[in-house]
Amino acid sequence: MNQLIKKPESVFGLATGSTPLGLYKEIILRCKARKCDLSQVITFNLDEYYGLSSDHPQSYHYFMQENLFKHIDIKPENIYIPDGMTDDVQKHCRWYEEQVRAHPIDLQILGIGANGHIGFNEPGSAEDSVTRLVDLSEQTISDNSIYFSSKEEVPKQAITMGIKTIMSAKKIILLASGDNKAKAVKCALEESPSANCPASWLQKHNNIDVIVDEDAGGLLKN
Ligand code: PGA
Repeated sequence: MNQLIKKPESVFGLATGSTPLGLYKEIILRCKARKCDLSQVITFNLDEYYGLSSDHPQSYHYFMQENLFKHIDIKPENIYIPDGMTDDVQKHCRWYEEQVRAHPIDLQILGIGANGHIGFNEPGSAEDSVTRLVDLSEQTISDNSIYFSSKEEVPKQAITMGIKTIMSAKKIILLASGDNKAKAVKCALEESPSANCPASWLQKHNNIDVIVDEDAGGLLKN
């Protein structure tokens, strides 16, 4: 909210999954009470499943529409989400990266995967990675299978902003809750930055807040 008051034309980086749902509900409530104006805001989503169309109920386009966009006054032309059905994935990824560069993200909201991924930057993701097509890890496919009728239905690939794309945000807020995130939060905050735990690259950002509940922070030493 402060970001919005400071700059009504703010650019937000948005995440999907269960983590940001509370935040989106709060934004909707405040907007309905006319306590915020999102008409000038631009948003970039982190990622999208490759091969799912925007009207597929498990696509991140659909998720964002249902859980945020259809309830607020954002302009459709100000919403950027990777296109999972693009017929030229390399070209689309380059275009997406250029759009982020042209509209620098003021505030990036992030969740974290149980394997330490941010966006769909799975273990092995380099610090200088940019928007690209990636293979999803076995753990991510298994974790996300709860949203599909079977594990086989979970797409095996996704388009994701890279680590470098995420790190270009002026400010980052990382959210995590639940003990299934405790190992990931520990590696993100207390292990040396490395591709083994992509969220650990965030230690190199100079303006990041990490908000975790007791369970997610349960393995932290400090
Ligand atoms: P979750 O996913 O919010 O559904 O736990 C987070 C993530 O995988 O990045």
